[in-house]
Amino acid sequence: MDFEHYPRTDLAQHYLDRLTALPERALSIFGPRQVGKTTLLQNDLSALAHQRGLTPVYVDFMSADDPLHALSGRLEDLLLDVAGELRNTQVTRVSAARFGVTLAPAPVAARSPDPGVQLQHHMAALKRVNPDARLLLMLDEAQELVRKRDGERAMKAIRGLFNTYRRDILLLMTGSSRDGLLWLFGEHHRASFGLADHEDFQVLGREFVEFVVRPLNQRLNRPLDIEVLSQVFAQLHHRPADFVAFVSRAVMTHVEDLLGAVKPFLASRYPVEAIRERFFRFTPLQQVLLAMIASGTAQLTGAAALREVASRLGTSVSAAAVSKALASLPVDTLVTHGRGRHEIADPGLLHWLREGATGDGVAGGG
Ligand SMILES: Nc1ncnc2c1ncn2[C@@H]1O[C@H](COP(=O)(O)OP(=O)(O)OP(=O)(O)O)[C@@H](O)[C@H]1O
Ligand SMILES: [Mg+2]
Repeated sequence: MDFEHYPRTDLAQHYLDRLTALPERALSIFGPRQVGKTTLLQNDLSALAHQRGLTPVYVDFMSADDPLHALSGRLEDLLLDVAGELRNTQVTRVSAARFGVTLAPAPVAARSPDPGVQLQHHMAALKRVNPDARLLLMLDEAQELVRKRDGERAMKAIRGLFNTYRRDILLLMTGSSRDGLLWLFGEHHRASFGLADHEDFQVLGREFVEFVVRPLNQRLNRPLDIEVLSQVFAQLHHRPADFVAFVSRAVMTHVEDLLGAVKPFLASRYPVEAIRERFFRFTPLQQVLLAMIASGTAQLTGAAALREVASRLGTSVSAAAVSKALASLPVDTLVTHGRGRHEIADPGLLHWLREGATGDGVAGGG
């Protein structure tokens, strides 16, 4: 089943209007995973920027090891594109006039070993080629500037570029970590401190549900309930691709109870998320015990283990409390071998605790 892109011109307009009205203030937008940030930047916002005579420049900091290198590379590409266009128009003019003239050489930016300075050289060269050039600079996954090794260096260069070319650059940064973005613009010691205003990304709602379901309902004998599917969309955290997949599956398998189908759908689509969610419903003591079992601790009611539990939990517990916490885990969580030896029965949970849980804030995990 193919679904088209749902256009979000109004939202693109909103962001662009804000940037144009206050060009000296950058804008940072937070939106959770998979809600359509990148799609908005690359489609609606880029198209609108073009219409308004701006040159959209998109850079994804998630996929780049060195953010500054990625940005600099994009500007260099842009310079080559613009130069290419210029040369093409010259070729046409020349061939029409039918006389051989050598082409103007492609403009070159001055070179500097300092990538921050290089960024400025690219921009300067761009302005020489096209003095009217105005960029909409879209930096996706900007929280990576906090996380990545060379992030702060990149941020300094971006700020420098933005300060130098205030009238020629509109700066938009998006990210899927609210904390990351808040750190980026809220921490005093950072180059990015105070650079941007903050907004939350407007997630899709009922309008998207209607966009997907209306055409489908014209073909179905029993139309899908848009009201119920709006609730489903909310339970799917307003993720458009998930919603489309859910609806496709529901139609193909003739699902009756749409709301009831959400949980199993999510569990099969995001097995890790399902494990994590289940894990965090356990009590803190149970979480600590499971983490310890996963890393091979036996004799959980012994003195050494109790000390470790206390240090991970921040409060001491009795052997009886440990036994009770273990006994009240759901039946298929553990295999018990007697003599105080336990194993985690669920391979997914075990794998997650051993490999993936470290970054998730599992009490003392890792
Ligand atoms: N307006 C839209 N119409 C139809 N599908 C959309 C729309 N916006 C996003 N999608 C779909 O939703 C999925 C996620 O979109 P996108 O990658 O833009 O989200 P994101 O917020 O950037 O996610 P992440 O945080 O993971 O980078 C993609 O499969 C995309 O095609
Ligand atoms: Mg994205």
